[in-house]
Amino acid sequence: MGLLLVLDRGRPVPLHAQIFEGIRTLILTGQLAAGHRLPSTRELAETLQVSRNTARLAYDRLAAEGYIEARHGAATRVAVQVPDTTFRAVHTARDVRTPPAAPAASPDATTAFDAELQDIFEDEALRWDFALGRPDAQAFPARTWQELTADTLADPEMRAALTRYGDPAGFLPLREAIAQQLAATRGLRVSPTQVMIVAGSQEGLHLACRLTCDATRSTGIEDPCYQGALYLFRSLRCSVVGIPVDDGGVCVDRLPPEGFALLYVTPSHQYPTGATLPLERRLALLEWAQRSSSLIVEDDYDSDFRYDGPPLTALAGLDPYGRVLYLGTFSKSLGPGLRIGYLVVPPWLAQRARTALGLMTGGHELLSQAVLARLLASGRFESHLRRLRRRYNERRLRLVAELRRHLGPVDLAGAEAGLHLAWRLPADWPTAEQLRRRAVAAGVGVYSTRSGGSAELQTSAAHKRTVTLGFSSLAPEAIGAAVARLAEVCGAGRGSGACARDLPAHVHPDGH
Ligand SMILES: Cc1ncc(COP(=O)(O)O)c(C=O)c1O
Repeated sequence: MGLLLVLDRGRPVPLHAQIFEGIRTLILTGQLAAGHRLPSTRELAETLQVSRNTARLAYDRLAAEGYIEARHGAATRVAVQVPDTTFRAVHTARDVRTPPAAPAASPDATTAFDAELQDIFEDEALRWDFALGRPDAQAFPARTWQELTADTLADPEMRAALTRYGDPAGFLPLREAIAQQLAATRGLRVSPTQVMIVAGSQEGLHLACRLTCDATRSTGIEDPCYQGALYLFRSLRCSVVGIPVDDGGVCVDRLPPEGFALLYVTPSHQYPTGATLPLERRLALLEWAQRSSSLIVEDDYDSDFRYDGPPLTALAGLDPYGRVLYLGTFSKSLGPGLRIGYLVVPPWLAQRARTALGLMTGGHELLSQAVLARLLASGRFESHLRRLRRRYNERRLRLVAELRRHLGPVDLAGAEAGLHLAWRLPADWPTAEQLRRRAVAAGVGVYSTRSGGSAELQTSAAHKRTVTLGFSSLAPEAIGAAVARLAEVCGAGRGSGACARDLPAHVHPDGH
């Protein structure tokens, strides 16, 4: 009963391991069936020209992993029956680069993660990048962070906490500090038990989906929208319905009466158009949610920055029904590299959200949560935000002024808040996508409603002409130089029509 085993004495793999692998493969591919009698270690050693000890080591490991059974005084036999021919075939032709076929029940299985997620990393090829929502690298409060990290590590209780599992919903003092901050700045009165600490809003949104999405109902999203939300919903195989956006944000009168399992909105500063949802639409939205038994997730990603007037009450702060989940992030105020955000859920969802987090992650890294809690409680975060607002306000005003200086009476929207604004191009200009490509070729990064982290479900005439520009990561002088270059790209100074006439039709055959 010779076994078809070939040993390669040149391989840096011990001979007993090669024997183990060889016999295991014969079993997994069905060539040795359950009950098949194997040679004794002496016979095997003789056949393969190895020591008996080598053969024994291989058999011991095969027995320990349950492939063979070696009973004293009886023959050694194959112990497992390999399930089916498919399983055997996979083992026979195993190529880890080939994706396994999609299960029949979900034909989209292989496409769910094939979405073209735009990279939001820095593009080195651009001389000036009006990237959306990118914080100024110089603005991170590094010295304070370092000091608070040292204080945290000096605290024996904190050191002990680092050696233990914590609450999956997050470090309680941080959740308390966030609840206090939300009451003071967003008109949102919540208990710390409703605050879930997550790895940025992206994970918060994922958690919201796990808690609310339902195979029998659709998920709604603004159109155009934030790509991170759209692609997440698609990856979860939600049936996604786009709701149009106009100058007042999401068109509440276009919401379906039957509702959604979840509707994703950005009421403070619509992403990417910059619109602010007026109060009457906010109230109508809440009524619709109640009438249609829908839940809403409010992504308040850049509400730390409002330049003209006091901050607006969050949608969640107006919600009498417990239908709004509120997403906040420290990605704009401190940096996305920290990966700290929060999802505030209505009280009825708090226990479920905590359990879901326990199952998804077991909770997040404690040290940064503790440092951030100290930063918030000490009042230093508020002073940091005040400094940041001054800095970004200066950049925002510079951008508006430079656009007007070089391009005349430009039509801007969304400049009163956040870290980006929208520029609506005149009707006889090229589309935003065409202008974006020309600008990029000239070393200036500007964006359309289908780039820079935005996505569309349907292209509308208005949004075809919407260019978005982030101003937070460029110094004021750089903004001046970049807009001058952009104006050259537009052929400005010769009337707005110059840009349209200037652009040879063949340059952008697929422009949208
Ligand atoms: C609309 C929107 N939501 C959320 C975020 C922040 O995401 P995160 O907190 O996952 O870094 C961004 C960042 O660009 C955004 O544009």
